[in-house]
Amino acid sequence: MGKSSQTTRCGLIYLPKIEDPRGNLTFVEGCRHIPFDIQRVYYLYDVPGGADRGGHAHKRLEQLIIAASGSFDVTVDDGGGKRSFHLDRAFCGLYVPPMHWRELTNFSSGSVCLVLASAPYDETDYLRRHDEFLAAVDRNRWTSPS
Ligand code: TYD
Repeated sequence: MGKSSQTTRCGLIYLPKIEDPRGNLTFVEGCRHIPFDIQRVYYLYDVPGGADRGGHAHKRLEQLIIAASGSFDVTVDDGGGKRSFHLDRAFCGLYVPPMHWRELTNFSSGSVCLVLASAPYDETDYLRRHDEFLAAVDRNRWTSPS
């Protein structure tokens, strides 16, 4: 988990953009542009029209979700309310802290969803049932120092 994970809220992070007539360039350095060290990169592509991804939360994992190409929507829920983000710029990522339920929808044709993650894949870090997620949010409310 990154150093700032307890303090950085879910929201958009604007990454450096080097504009060039030959094409733009964006870069990301872990613990500099985003509040965690990058341990894993994965991407979603060839998403069929109408398909949805996500539908789970993570106990400890932090992620930055970027529309590297095309666009899609991300709805996040921390157990207290939902927020939706339309991602369509390759220099802008959505930071998703631990314990946020996420749904990815409305993928445009040919879009690529690039995800930077703070840890290797670990199925035991997933909360895949919404009732299980809400119960974990409630437990954390009682056990976390305010
Ligand atoms: P999942 O995280 O549920 O996909 P999404 O949230 O994008 O809808 O992962 C789908 C499948 O891929 C699941 O069987 C786990 C596997 N997977 C890995 O093996 N490694 C990974 O890094 C990721 C992200 C998923």
